[in-house]
Amino acid sequence: MWSQTCFFVLSAVLAYAGDDVLYKNCSLVELCNQNRELERQDRFKVNPEGAVFANGLASFRMQNVEETEDFFLNVTALEGNVFRLQVEERESVRYHIQHVLDGDPTPINFDDVQLSLQAADIIVGNNRVTVNYSPLSVEFYENEVLQFVVEGDRLTLENEDLRHPFTFGVTFPQASHLYGLHEHSDHLALRTTEPNGADPYRVRTIDYINYELYSTMAMYGAIPALYGHGSNSTSGLFLHNAAEIWVEITNEAVGGPGAYFMVDSGAFDLFVLLGPSITDVVRQYTSLTGVAHLPPIWSLGYHQCRWGYANQQDVQTVIAAMDINDFPIDVIWLDIQHTQDMKFFTWNTQNFSDPFAMLQNLSSTNRYLVVLSDCHFKMEEGYFVYDESLANDYFIKNLDGTVYVDEGWPGPSSWMDYLNPDARDYYSSLYLYENWNGTTPTLGGVWNDMNEASVFNNDTEKTFPYDLVHYGGVSNRDIHNMYNLLQVMATHKGLEDRDNGTRRPFILTRAHFAGTQRYAAFWTGDNKAEFGYIPISYSMCLNANLLGFVFCGADVGGFFGEPTEELLQRFVQSGAWLPFFREHSNIGSERREPYLFPEEVQNTLREAMKTRYAHLPVWYTLFYEHVRNGDPVIRPLFYHYPSDPDVFEIDDQLLLGSDILVKAVGEAGVESVQVYFPGGEELLWFSAQLDGTFYPGTGLTDVPVTIDRIPVFYRRGSIIVTKQTSRPSTTDMKDDYYTLFAFLKNDSTATGTVYLDDNLSFEYRDSMRYNYVSLVSYGNIIVYSSIDDSDSQGFDLKIEEVITVIPETSYDGSLTGRCLKTSYKYTADGIPLNQIKLKGKETASIKLY
Ligand SMILES: *[C@@H]1O[C@H](CO)[C@@H](O)[C@H](O)[C@H]1NC(C)=O
Ligand SMILES: *[C@@H]1O[C@H](CO)[C@@H](O)[C@H](O)[C@H]1NC(C)=O
Ligand SMILES: *[C@@H]1O[C@H](CO)[C@@H](O)[C@H](O)[C@H]1NC(C)=O
Ligand SMILES: *[C@@H]1O[C@H](CO)[C@@H](O)[C@H](O)[C@H]1NC(C)=O
Ligand SMILES: *[C@@H]1O[C@H](CO)[C@@H](O)[C@H](O)[C@H]1NC(C)=O
Ligand SMILES: *[C@@H]1O[C@H](CO)[C@@H](O)[C@H](O)[C@H]1NC(C)=O
Ligand SMILES: *[C@@H]1O[C@H](CO)[C@@H](O)[C@H](O)[C@H]1NC(C)=O
Ligand SMILES: *[C@@H]1O[C@H](CO)[C@@H](O)[C@H](O)[C@H]1NC(C)=O
Ligand SMILES: *[C@@H]1O[C@H](CO)[C@@H](O)[C@H](O)[C@H]1NC(C)=O
Ligand SMILES: *[C@@H]1O[C@H](CO)[C@@H](O)[C@H](O)[C@H]1NC(C)=O
Repeated sequence: MWSQTCFFVLSAVLAYAGDDVLYKNCSLVELCNQNRELERQDRFKVNPEGAVFANGLASFRMQNVEETEDFFLNVTALEGNVFRLQVEERESVRYHIQHVLDGDPTPINFDDVQLSLQAADIIVGNNRVTVNYSPLSVEFYENEVLQFVVEGDRLTLENEDLRHPFTFGVTFPQASHLYGLHEHSDHLALRTTEPNGADPYRVRTIDYINYELYSTMAMYGAIPALYGHGSNSTSGLFLHNAAEIWVEITNEAVGGPGAYFMVDSGAFDLFVLLGPSITDVVRQYTSLTGVAHLPPIWSLGYHQCRWGYANQQDVQTVIAAMDINDFPIDVIWLDIQHTQDMKFFTWNTQNFSDPFAMLQNLSSTNRYLVVLSDCHFKMEEGYFVYDESLANDYFIKNLDGTVYVDEGWPGPSSWMDYLNPDARDYYSSLYLYENWNGTTPTLGGVWNDMNEASVFNNDTEKTFPYDLVHYGGVSNRDIHNMYNLLQVMATHKGLEDRDNGTRRPFILTRAHFAGTQRYAAFWTGDNKAEFGYIPISYSMCLNANLLGFVFCGADVGGFFGEPTEELLQRFVQSGAWLPFFREHSNIGSERREPYLFPEEVQNTLREAMKTRYAHLPVWYTLFYEHVRNGDPVIRPLFYHYPSDPDVFEIDDQLLLGSDILVKAVGEAGVESVQVYFPGGEELLWFSAQLDGTFYPGTGLTDVPVTIDRIPVFYRRGSIIVTKQTSRPSTTDMKDDYYTLFAFLKNDSTATGTVYLDDNLSFEYRDSMRYNYVSLVSYGNIIVYSSIDDSDSQGFDLKIEEVITVIPETSYDGSLTGRCLKTSYKYTADGIPLNQIKLKGKETASIKLY
């Protein structure tokens, strides 16, 4: 397909670019520059002869128009409004990735197939898939509404020796906005890209150092899923492919917004998610690629990290200072300095001479340690991981068969080949207590950084060269984006095994792919101490939450640079409402532990952190609901208000679940911010400060702000379950009773859910040891029911206080603009609450006075 002329043009561009181009734009990457302006043209058609229909599979014979090459075009129907479209050469050499899907999707039978001379209609329930033979296209209908189209006229498939690029275009006829294609430092709603404007969104795991705001450049994560949302419906796609991808987005197209995929290699294996709602699409995506397990409760607390905690005294000092200054904290982190000469699975014997004592001291204050561990290993004879991996052939190779060596933190290093199952097992075993001396369960988790993989080599965009060879002769081209997934799978297994499966592992990964969410949390990488990095953290984490990766956070304070006091306060205040809440800083920056600031700054930081801890039951319940249903934990407004076009581009506000609305403050010196209140006039949003203010859901409204806190609101009709006693850590909150806030509707009811279990083990999953409770408040009467027939012994909901909030009405029924707050407490005359135990699926009610 590529002419000689094109090749020469390309060489000229590359020569012109010189060596100083660290990250390439579209014009410097063959895949993109050769395909971007591909002419629309019918290159293929379906030959109706030879179609096979069986067990939920329709397999068509596709040919190029010259009829010299034969392909399969396969359509499979899956449970729950999902289809799979695979296009491939009959004599295919394409690599098919594994480990990404959460189990093999099972086909379901078609209800009917109707054939005509022009097309085949495949009917499954409410859905119809129409394969138009020539011109070729595949149309997906939900309830006879055309939701999604794979265009035939931008389909190309190339079979070369080392790479197998393909392209295709799609449109979303019902959508007005597109979302997804994580990870980019960009707005949530994808923008139009075009040859004279922004580059296509690049989907490739890359350590994009000093990443800029609002860019379509690739980053650490790569999730090739894309949703199209409109007021009436949502649909989506997931491309099951781990090669480099560039995606041109066109929002203004006739026939709905479109996306044109340029894929470097691997299989054309497309899952089509027909919704029809955004909730459905997210659940369809998570049913394919999986959900996280429940995090250990402590990982939802505050994490203190710094590239700079260089010895065990530091750990002791920071924790002590946090305690003395009344800052809650669950976890302290060690960056690379804990190792001996940057050799992972070793301790720096001088500075960490007694890791057991350090861990014992942490454990005595109910704190945990997380340490960094990377996928590259120092090339040094005598370093056991290097020696053993070399001897067993566990390192990635160059094309010529030699072991790949390049620069990492310790200098010349080699990278573990996690595609090799034996290498994975070996790597897992390194995490066992007996193999990693100086570790105990108090080292509760591991931080897998640099796994894009990041390589200190400017010539290869700071990552693996394309042609590295993994286990079984697999080219890096085919699995680049999922290298991280293979690593965290192995880390996860190691952490599970070391405790015989009794404890939930915690892993933080920087790179991520579809499916990585099953094993790890992630953060948005090396951001900067600038205001713009606050709203972008909401946009990026919201996008990830829509794409099934819920456990997301950003470096609070900003990794590079020095935050002003104001910026730090805003970062902590907004970071407290992201699922993963960690302060982190660069070794070159000033220390910024919260106790180092003047009293008034400490006060705002403390309040933000304590607010996080007070809402721990909300976070934990939402994580359970993610595990149970695949739902996001934080949600953009359009998730709950899908028919309100005014919210489709809002990405500096988030909903925690459905009931808490948070606005990030991403500017210096503001006295008010504009908050969008959704839901219409009837819906009221109460200030979480409970100062009596509330706002109707009528759109953009000026809300005054001070430095003390960012705007947070509770939805009328909800019950917010909190714990109000301030404690040093989540573990210390164990015996505290719950305080419920019930925002009663005008029928005097409010509803909510709360989830309880042992916080640490897999018994919730393996033996139904939990209590998932639905709550209805009729003022001070609370009716609660266990939702499942689970073993809830020991997980009783002990309520201390219910605070009902209603807007005050004057005698003519109109709102006065104030609200009435009434507190009902458990009293000695009341029912001793902890004696009300639900066994299995039961309902009980209590009355507070
Ligand atoms: C792509 O990068 C090269 C080298 O930095 C630069 O000269 C060129 O202008 C860039 N192209 C676009 C469209 O930004
Ligand atoms: C398509 O279906 C045919 C059965 O007709 C099967 O042999 C082939 O492997 C399938 N190809 C893909 C890529 O699923
Ligand atoms: C939503 O559906 C209604 C009724 O079918 C239609 O009138 C309206 O145009 C649709 N809106 C959009 C944005 O597609
Ligand atoms: C060990 O600790 C000392 C004292 O804090 C520090 O100067 C040194 O850099 C540390 N060593 C490493 C390898 O981090
Ligand atoms: C552990 O705590 C004790 C008592 O505070 C202290 O003396 C000791 O230095 C600590 N050890 C480490 C390794 O942190
Ligand atoms: C483990 O480390 C401790 C010191 O932290 C040391 O005393 C002990 O010998 C080490 N054990 C092994 C098996 O290396
Ligand atoms: C790599 O690129 C960075 C950023 O452009 C530059 O600072 C650094 O000097 C380069 N390193 C080498 C070895 O060229
Ligand atoms: C795991 O099981 C083995 C064998 O039963 C036992 O020796 C070991 O102590 C157990 N480890 C933990 C952390 O429970
Ligand atoms: C689990 O953690 C939560 C929050 O700290 C606490 O309320 C609950 O009592 C804990 N449950 C157990 C069994 O420790
Ligand atoms: C209660 O609210 C509903 C809608 O939320 C409204 O239709 C109804 O008029 C309200 N009733 C009273 C008595 O205010």
